[in-house]
Amino acid sequence: MGATAARGVGSVGGAGTTGATGVTSPGGADAGGAAEAVAGATAASDAAAGGAGIRAAGVAAAAALAADEPGQRGDDLEQWSGAGGAFPAGSLLGDGKVIDLRPGAAWLGELDTAAWRRAWRLAATVTPAARPDPHGLPGLRALLADYARRSRGVACTPERLLVTRGSTNGLDLLASTVLRPGDRVGVEDPGYGKARSVLAARGAELVPCPVDEHGLIVEDLPDDLRLVCTTPSHQYPLGGVLPVPRRQALLAWARRTGALIAEDDYDGEFRYDVAPLPALYGLDPEVVVYLGTTAKILTSDVGVGWLIARPDLVEAIARRRAEFNDRTAVVPQEAIRLLLERGDLARYIRRMRAEYARRRAVVAEALDGLTLLGDTAGLHVVVLLPQDESERVTKEAAQRGVLLDTLERHFMGPPRFAGLVIGYGSAATTRELRAGCTLVRELAAP
Ligand SMILES: Cc1ncc(COP(=O)(O)O)c(C=O)c1O
Repeated sequence: MGATAARGVGSVGGAGTTGATGVTSPGGADAGGAAEAVAGATAASDAAAGGAGIRAAGVAAAAALAADEPGQRGDDLEQWSGAGGAFPAGSLLGDGKVIDLRPGAAWLGELDTAAWRRAWRLAATVTPAARPDPHGLPGLRALLADYARRSRGVACTPERLLVTRGSTNGLDLLASTVLRPGDRVGVEDPGYGKARSVLAARGAELVPCPVDEHGLIVEDLPDDLRLVCTTPSHQYPLGGVLPVPRRQALLAWARRTGALIAEDDYDGEFRYDVAPLPALYGLDPEVVVYLGTTAKILTSDVGVGWLIARPDLVEAIARRRAEFNDRTAVVPQEAIRLLLERGDLARYIRRMRAEYARRRAVVAEALDGLTLLGDTAGLHVVVLLPQDESERVTKEAAQRGVLLDTLERHFMGPPRFAGLVIGYGSAATTRELRAGCTLVRELAAP
């Protein structure tokens, strides 16, 4: 593929900030208890986007779906688009439309709307239980356990699986069960801001753990963490796939220190160069808690995810969850169960994997010459830029109706390097994706 090889980023992660510079939140009262043929593909995807129903999502709906960091996104629009969010005459699409290249949203253009509607119609006929099971619906637990085994190499029985509302909710449930106020929790830096928020709200002292282009730098982990949160399939946002030796070192570290590992497998279904590495959980189910989600295969809005852990932990989490009446609504659970049972979800994921592979090829071709990271998996790539350039490019792109996200924003401490995080799920068509990335290439040209 056309991406400049992600070498020469030896400085990435070099100046680590591991240490006790974490944020301490006293709010722990509740924590006590607890990617080819690009041209043909472009035509297919463009045609799909002009279709009916969810296919007609378009830029406005895509922008609404891209609700990764709502406050931040709103600020971008206000700050860079001009009054009232209307884009100037120079915008690429005109009509005030935007090309959204921010990460966080999946592309829903090829959703089989007939299967989707059928599942939700049938799900609506389910009779809610008077006393909902905090573990989730038994039928869904069994199907999700089977899905995790087939798609992620995770051998698990339904007893090891608890239905959540998504991976963030799963992390919150885990934190509220195992953390005591002031416990030190390792978070990847740069990393996922919402995970940091959830952990801080549960009273954790956050410890930024540096990552490089391969993922978490395991040898830098301190020994006094209760929990470390990691994204080994596709580090968020840098995009590294954690190599096998580091996986083994991470598990050995957890065994030695007694820490737990929260494995956020938010986009583990999407790997394009070779078959995905199996989930970390499969290597050591005693110390890893696996967090799965429908956020990238569908959208966060569905509100269904799954947590896989050893049975005693699942039971403790279920009890803790019941204490504060946290649950996954029955109708979304039943809809996902039906989509899994009929094979609709598996078919959709196969189509999406092909679509994302095409989109990723479009992005890599349009950005050729820039330094890309993390383009072998997931729904986003990172473009490394010189310090101060990402702000300028983001601002000038917004004035042309192209929304971007800076890499710096994802750091907890001072940013150690700069660039853009370019998501390829939100753009309505590959034509728009190519136009947006071509503009980025022009603006970023030295
Ligand atoms: C790193 C990471 N984890 C998890 C999620 C999704 O979380 P949830 O399932 O809570 O919607 C996202 C969504 O953008 C993400 O980027």
